[in-house]
Formats: sequence, C-alpha cells, structure tokens
Amino acid sequence: MRTFKSIVSFAKSKIFHHHVFFEFPIPVLAERRRHLPILAEGYELRVPETDVDCEAWARLISEDPGFGAWTAGRVRSELMAHLIDSRAASLILYRGEAVGCACVIDASTATRRIAHLMYLYVRPSHRGKSLGVVLTYETLGICVDRGYHKVIAVTDPPRLSALLMYLSNGCRPIRNSLYSYVQWFRITQRLAPALDSMRGAVPLGA
Ligand SMILES: CC(C)(COP(=O)(O)OP(=O)(O)OC[C@H]1O[C@@H](n2cnc3c(N)ncnc32)[C@H](O)[C@@H]1OP(=O)(O)O)[C@@H](O)C(=O)NCCC(=O)NCCS
Repeated sequence: MRTFKSIVSFAKSKIFHHHVFFEFPIPVLAERRRHLPILAEGYELRVPETDVDCEAWARLISEDPGFGAWTAGRVRSELMAHLIDSRAASLILYRGEAVGCACVIDASTATRRIAHLMYLYVRPSHRGKSLGVVLTYETLGICVDRGYHKVIAVTDPPRLSALLMYLSNGCRPIRNSLYSYVQWFRITQRLAPALDSMRGAVPLGA
C-alpha cells in the first residue's frame, strides 16, 4: 500500500506543481557576485547574528501575505538552523531598520549538494534600488565557495517582479512537471516585452 501511495505521489509530482522552479547556474553566480551594484547611501548589508536580527527578519517577511506569519523562533528553526554556511543569510538595513532579506538553506540529497534560496523580500517602499539583486547574488555567492552543484529557487507564478529579476539576471526555468511547460510558456509570454526591452542592457540575462 505504501509503495502504491509513493508511486501515485511521484506520478502526481511529474504532472503538476503549483509553484515554478528556477536554477541559478554556478558560473552565473560566480560572475554576478563580482559585479554587484553598490548600495545607495543609508543602506547597509549584514549577516544577521542576534535575536534582534531574527525578530526584525520575522517582522519583515510577515509583511508579505504569501509568506505566512513568522516569529523569531520560526526564523531560527526553519531558516537559520539550515543555512549552507553561517554567512548565507543577508539582511539589508536602511538607517538601522531592516528593509530586505534573503537566505540560502541546504536541500542536498545523498549524491548532490543542492542549495535553495529562501524568502527573498524587499519592503515595497525600498524596491527598484537594486536591493533584490544585491541580496540574491551576494547571498548565493556563498554556494560557489561551498562547492554546491545546484542552486534553485521556487516562487509563485504571479510574482512577476521576482520572475523578471531572476530571468533578467541569468536564471534558468526548470521544467519539472507537465504543467510547468504551460506555466513557463505563460510567464515568458507575459514578461516578453520587459525582457526584450532589457536585452543588451543586462548581458548575464542571455
Ligand atoms: C522581487 C523583489 C525582491 C525585487 O526587489 P527589488 O529590490 O525591487 O529588485 P531590484 O531593484 O534589485 O530589481 C532587480 C531587477 O528586477 C527587475 N524588476 C524587479 N521588479 C521590477 C518591476 N516591478 N518592474 C520592472 N523591473 C523589475 C528589473 O530587471 C530590475 O533590474 P533594474 O533595476 O536594472 O531594472 C521584490 O519585488 C519583492 O520583495 N517582492 C515580494 C517578495 C517576492 O516575490 N520574493 C521572491 C519570492 S521567490
């Protein structure tokens, strides 16, 4: 019975996923971290270390309704306890207040070292200032140092800003279920005008 259930669940996973998956090629990560934008005045990037940082982190990601409700304890147990490295979490402060965050946790299998970008978030009033790019590529740069084979992120199809940011910065769609072909077709249609207008401006997006 258990075998039957696991066959059904495996088959289902090959047909449908609500989320879409991306891969960050390792050479892109290595290159991108060398050319990161400089943060504007007043912003500071740091690795969260204290309970106060975890509380700020929890408040920040709880602002996004899609991320659920977070406490400092949940941040510690579900994120900080699984980081690929003690430096694999980044918090951006603006004049001392947390306004952006991202971290990378380990999702390795027995044979492959796999890292997973988690809960990238920039407070709406601070968006469009390259904080998302800095958080993503600064934090994921650690995967290069630690010899990871595969680096992935998962997001919801309606998160067009995140999708655009990833696709225009060298990320590759993962088509891991039948439905993912439909999702990626729709996403690339919706983002085609924006991606076309950026082509040439962002060489790593090719
Ligand atoms: C995705 C997110 C982190 C981007 O943060 P951000 O600080 O605005 O991103 P950046 O300023 O670094 O933008 C990076 C690139 O993304 C693209 N981009 C992102 N949002 C865009 C938008 N609304 N319109 C046009 N381009 C956009 C652009 O290519 C931009 O590059 P540019 O500044 O050279 O034009 C932010 O929108 C966010 O927190 N969203 C909610 C949480 C979320 O969806 N997280 C991802 C879950 S996996």
